[in-house]
Amino acid sequence: MTYVVREAAEDETDAILQVARAAFGSEQDDEIATLIDELLRDPTADPRLSLVAVAVDDDVIVGHVIFSRADLPQSPLAVSASILAPLAVYPDNQRRGIGGMLIVEGLKRLRSMGIDLVFVLGHPAYYQKHGFSPAGVRGYDAPYPIPPKHAEAWMVQELRAGVIGKTHGQVSCAQALDDPKYWQED
Ligand SMILES: CC(C)(COP(=O)(O)OP(=O)(O)OC[C@H]1O[C@@H](n2cnc3c(N)ncnc32)[C@H](O)[C@@H]1OP(=O)(O)O)[C@@H](O)C(=O)NCCC(=O)NCCS
Repeated sequence: MTYVVREAAEDETDAILQVARAAFGSEQDDEIATLIDELLRDPTADPRLSLVAVAVDDDVIVGHVIFSRADLPQSPLAVSASILAPLAVYPDNQRRGIGGMLIVEGLKRLRSMGIDLVFVLGHPAYYQKHGFSPAGVRGYDAPYPIPPKHAEAWMVQELRAGVIGKTHGQVSCAQALDDPKYWQED
């Protein structure tokens, strides 16, 4: 099966929410689906990038990722930043590189949009494969405190060389993401 990644259209929200509900399972489904729905409509998330992975054969959406605006108000250097969340791949289509394709294409597009830094809270082993590394030790605080045992889950990647080291401080996020329940890692 071949997949392509492209920007999501406005009328694809229902299909995207279905993928998220299936990927995140019953406990978190409404929470994550609500988050996606709100992020897609949140003006404070701009610049935002919403990408879908589509199976070429049947034109079905099997994966989705959103990158939304982040700010570093205390940073000594002005930077543009983004937060990757959420990322979801339909269970039947997992482990085929689709999540990776969404991350790689997203980072490429963000770079061309002039974004300097990308943050993510997620599984360290997965995101480290795609160039992320722990953000806390580099001086970036998540919007809400991450318990020390999960410190490695809060990660950063620079899209402009040299930005890490010249920037630091508290990261703030779009209103839709600005809730402590989205900043718990287990
Ligand atoms: C995480 C997720 C997006 C990965 O999508 P995917 O298309 O299966 O990812 P890829 O095919 O690019 O990569 C798969 C690899 O990542 C690994 N991986 C998947 N989830 C992982 C996790 N939680 N921790 C570590 N590695 C993980 C797989 O083991 C696989 O490794 P392998 O190829 O060596 O076997 C998908 O599993 C998913 O939607 N999960 C449920 C929702 C979720 O947890 N989203 C991420 C929130 S941070």
